[in-house]
Amino acid sequence: MVGLIPQHFIDDLLTRIDIVDIVDSSVALKKAGRDFKACCPFHDEKTPSFTVSQNKQFYHCFGCGAHGTAISFLMDYSGLDFIEAVEELASRAGVEVPREQGDFSKTKDNSELYELMELVVRHFCRQLRESPEAHRAVDYLKQRGLSGELAKEFELGFAPPGWDILLNTLGTSDAAKQRLTQIGMILEKDNGDHYDRFRDRIIFPIRDQRGRAIGFGGRVFDDSLPKYLNSPETPIFHKGRELYGLFQARHQLKDMERIYIVEGYMDVLALAQHGIRNVVASLGTAVTENHLERLFRVCPQIIICFDGDNAGQKAAWRSMEIALPLLKEGRQIHFMFMPEGDDPDTYVHRHGREKFEDMNNYVPLSNYLIDKFKRETNLDSREGLAQLAEGIMPLVGVLPAGALQELLLNDIFKLTGISIDSLRKLIDQKKPTVKSTKAQHLVSASQTNKKLKSHVADAIRLLLHNPELGMTIEPSTLSDIETKGVGFLRELLTFIHQKPEISCAGILEHWRDSKYEERLNKLSIEDCLLTEPEALKVELFEVIDKIKHDYQKQLRKINLQKLDIKNPDEARSMLNPTPATNSEE
Ligand code: CTP
Ligand code: MN
Repeated sequence: MVGLIPQHFIDDLLTRIDIVDIVDSSVALKKAGRDFKACCPFHDEKTPSFTVSQNKQFYHCFGCGAHGTAISFLMDYSGLDFIEAVEELASRAGVEVPREQGDFSKTKDNSELYELMELVVRHFCRQLRESPEAHRAVDYLKQRGLSGELAKEFELGFAPPGWDILLNTLGTSDAAKQRLTQIGMILEKDNGDHYDRFRDRIIFPIRDQRGRAIGFGGRVFDDSLPKYLNSPETPIFHKGRELYGLFQARHQLKDMERIYIVEGYMDVLALAQHGIRNVVASLGTAVTENHLERLFRVCPQIIICFDGDNAGQKAAWRSMEIALPLLKEGRQIHFMFMPEGDDPDTYVHRHGREKFEDMNNYVPLSNYLIDKFKRETNLDSREGLAQLAEGIMPLVGVLPAGALQELLLNDIFKLTGISIDSLRKLIDQKKPTVKSTKAQHLVSASQTNKKLKSHVADAIRLLLHNPELGMTIEPSTLSDIETKGVGFLRELLTFIHQKPEISCAGILEHWRDSKYEERLNKLSIEDCLLTEPEALKVELFEVIDKIKHDYQKQLRKINLQKLDIKNPDEARSMLNPTPATNSEE
């Protein structure tokens, strides 16, 4: 008999695949803003209203209402059943579907993997001190200008040449080998033997914000390739989400006025060596919204400092586009452009700390934006000015309304002579027309779902669309509240705390076939417009406060009635809904 697929496997599977790839292999998608679009495969249409959100891992057609996760897509579009859909996704992710016999309660716990990671960190550090070959690593670090002290603080290590050094030290049983494979430290050969992934490299342990070792980078000593080798995707490591050095920076500095984002491990270390400790690296990937939001939670000013090559320039512009909608009051982004051929590492060695930290070297985001357009258009012709206005206004329109947007509007007015009112119209014109259909849809959805508009439903909806918000609320803050639905809200918060990386789709799949499925599905297609992370956080806090406040109010009301009637049961039965029951709606 085929066993059940463990729920934790499905939860994790959804974080490994990307709905955009899944849908795109059947229906060609086009990027549109932060989403992807196509003509809907579920109904006939000429203009695309089928939208796939990478962030939510969810699709929705604003024309016919079709919606769902990657699993739903394979079921509804390719006609697979649930098990087949999961198997298809697993094979695309290159993992096997585990089975269990009727036991729902097992949830995955990665603590063993984290503990093993610590042993691996220590192993590499020990090799840097004790291996007969260690002098090569030590010499290399010295030659790059790094002190022993700094190497110690960042727990730099050494993987000596050899295929089985880590294997023989930590892979002493089959179970141990299996776990080492799981965290990507050893690989399996066709004949079942294993070998070390990191060989003859300097090792950089990567810790998450909470300080847990989650992965490694390893650099060769010479010009051989690949220059850097990183841990593969594992249950605990997702490259592209992490910022190297954030843990160390926060450990060193309690209050940071600003923080630098650089590209590489060696940039972080070189700057730290020069006393500049407020630095993190994006590990060679593009800066994401998630990175920026995380850093804005730590400090209000981010300085993006990429290499002076072409790739660095492109990455800077891309970062600007990602940063625009996040620029609330009080937040600032600056760019620091390295001279051609330099990176922060070589720059700080050449010019020193003072020059690196000189604010005059930094370009405010808004200057970068305008100057780039100015450089690329002919300002002497009306055509050029029109082109500039039409090109820049959609970007200005993405900025949150506020002083910065006003100042930019004023500058563009002075530059082009187009009145501010007309410029504003350019923002609106450029907004995709589907937005208005979206808005209409939302209005009607909010009317028909009046019943769901309780504060609890608001909180659940916010979390469903932005699960990462859940990390800012402790489930226990709701523990004394017995309002209808709060039980589920607590459950959802607890789930998010266990799976901080869960997406909207992951939540929907977790509660597929439960009594909450229908409700969650309804909430999932409401409110797709709200995207401002900071506003969302404030909204969530407010809603939670309202839930607490309302419950207190109801309790007081009950107590008053009790005094009046002297019969608590009677008093309670007069109130509807009764907060004293723990049942869900
Ligand atoms: N990177 C990677 N794999 C590669 C090359 C680069 O993962 N094959 C990532 C690493 O995180 C690296 C970052 O991209 O730190 C920046 O790459 P690069 O600028 O090439 O390296 P540097 O940090 O300048 O390294 P070094 O100074 O040691 O050459
Ligand atoms: Mn470098």
